[in-house]
Amino acid sequence: MNPLEAIITRQIAATGPLTLADYMSICLQHAEHGYYTTRDPLGTAGDFTTAPEISQMFGELLGLSLAQTWLEAGSPERFTLAELGPGRGTLMADLLRATRGVAGFHSAAEVLMVESSPVLSARQQEALLPHRATWSSQLDLTGQPLFLIANEFFDALPVRQFIRDGDNWRERVIGLEGDSLAFGLTEVSDYSFLTHRLADTQDGDIVEHSAPSQAIAAQIGQHIARHGGVALLVDYGDWRSKGDTFQALKAHEKVSPLHNAGAADLTAHVDFEALALAASPAASSALTPQGVFLERLGITQRAQALASKLSGAALESHIAAHRRLTHPEEMGTLFKVMALYQSGATPPAGLNHGT
Ligand SMILES: C[S@@+](CC[C@H](N)C(=O)[O-])C[C@H]1O[C@@H](n2cnc3c(N)ncnc32)[C@H](O)[C@@H]1O
Repeated sequence: MNPLEAIITRQIAATGPLTLADYMSICLQHAEHGYYTTRDPLGTAGDFTTAPEISQMFGELLGLSLAQTWLEAGSPERFTLAELGPGRGTLMADLLRATRGVAGFHSAAEVLMVESSPVLSARQQEALLPHRATWSSQLDLTGQPLFLIANEFFDALPVRQFIRDGDNWRERVIGLEGDSLAFGLTEVSDYSFLTHRLADTQDGDIVEHSAPSQAIAAQIGQHIARHGGVALLVDYGDWRSKGDTFQALKAHEKVSPLHNAGAADLTAHVDFEALALAASPAASSALTPQGVFLERLGITQRAQALASKLSGAALESHIAAHRRLTHPEEMGTLFKVMALYQSGATPPAGLNHGT
């Protein structure tokens, strides 16, 4: 048993089973043994690879979409350029490089990196040099427009799971079987925040609910509705949560989420409808597959321009990266993009109004 498993086991023995959300929080964020607290998990030698680590084109195109929206908003002379969960800082670095030529954009931007991991904050600081930025574990906003990006951030936030039982629900929890962690179910109860899910579920169906995700979406939505700006949210998930998407990844392979606590990445698919509803009164765009979004922003033309300077293995790897980001059988369909923006404004380039 590793030290974090020992802590979790003692806690359950003392106070009873944990919700999945509590378990995710401890495994990912424990101050001493948490997954994100103790390592840089990205890249081929780590546990997973993200879009900005696959190709510079991802950050470049997202950056140009944000900068276009900033120009259309009348080029506000001060604004917060925020990223949630910036990993190695690659997306923000590519965004800043791609927008160098947009007159006034950099001098107006106050860069805010929202990161809980000390290890990754240090990597981000290196990646952004010589740009100035502020780091915080919270989205600390001042009264100016907000231009925000988040790639694979919301999937790392804790979810609770509920199984429908008649017109009520049981919560899936983590308890003990002997000395080992095991899934269990609570007694039947009525959860007011799940009432609307009685319309589209049947007995035995699982739904997921992420209160921390909704709180952050609400903060972003209220801020944008009041002060202007846009948020581009990219993640794997769908319009509405259905089924068990709680998973653990170690060295690019799925593993049991209950084994070796704190050593694997724990995630759940993002429920974009819940984010859109929480972000009201800000408007939300149509949920759009990543591949479609990147094609609309011109990834093929950008890929061709970069390809003309490459040959051999570098060219092959560049072609594979383009395919990986956009192809429906790779990240193109599983990953989705949704923007939050002021009601009445135009959605950012690459996205249409939501219904
Ligand atoms: C899956 S990684 C994505 C990294 C990066 N966006 C990318 O695309 O490469 C999740 C990121 O969110 C950060 N993170 C996770 N939970 C967080 C929280 N509650 N508050 C702030 N950052 C968090 C992690 O430390 C990491 O930087």
